[in-house]
Amino acid sequence: MAAMASAQARPPMREAAREIAPRDRLIVGLDLPSVEAAEAMIKRLGETVTFYKIGMELTYAGGLALAERLVGGGKGVFIDLKLHDIPNTVERATRQIARLGARFLTIHAYPQSMKAALAGAAGSGLELLAVTVLTSCDDTDLADAGYALGVKDLVARRAQQAKEIGMPGLILSPEETQSVRQLLGPEMQLITPGIRPGGTDVGDQKRVMTPTLAIAAGADRLVVARPVIAADDPVAAAENIVAEIASALA
Ligand code: C5P
Repeated sequence: MAAMASAQARPPMREAAREIAPRDRLIVGLDLPSVEAAEAMIKRLGETVTFYKIGMELTYAGGLALAERLVGGGKGVFIDLKLHDIPNTVERATRQIARLGARFLTIHAYPQSMKAALAGAAGSGLELLAVTVLTSCDDTDLADAGYALGVKDLVARRAQQAKEIGMPGLILSPEETQSVRQLLGPEMQLITPGIRPGGTDVGDQKRVMTPTLAIAAGADRLVVARPVIAADDPVAAAENIVAEIASALA
């Protein structure tokens, strides 16, 4: 009975997500060539940024040790390795990454890989995020890769599968955030890259949105790399995004 009472008292996850401070909703991607460059950026950003993403480039340059140091220093850490391999390999790789103490790890939204990663993360605090369709892809890119579905339908299919398999969160473009939120309901954590504050360079991203519109569409957290780390003034760029997030939530 006590367990039931505490389960009832717990707010739904989406309610809890609304309580995330605006600053903690900005995840800065450390897409930099060396640990030294990443540490210099982290030092420069100081208290402005509370959450960092370490992707492939930095991981292959020694970034996992940096991830552990960031966790030890109280920062949120998102390991963006987009795992996808045979289930045995995905499960064992996820188990290794879970030891770092990071909060998030990405897995491509293939059912086999998602199930294997959930098995590897079992018993740890690691939360797995399913990558639906990369934000650099449009319908033509999917057709080139041999997919029959376009972006919208493939994202919806993979989002639904991720929920059924038990993934706690999704990476998706801000353009699909609103429809996926409607499809999956309030509990799934939605995290969106492809964020471009007004006036910044789009680069290779094809499905982009401003921070204000992404939050209004229902994103819980935003991943931003180049608009912060390649800015002339990264602190000002990050503060402007935090301010945009705060006013979008107000
Ligand atoms: O520089 P920019 O803000 O475009 O970087 C976006 C970051 O989010 C990159 O680190 C990229 O690898 C990552 N990402 C993405 N699209 C996904 C998943 C992750 O752009 N679907």
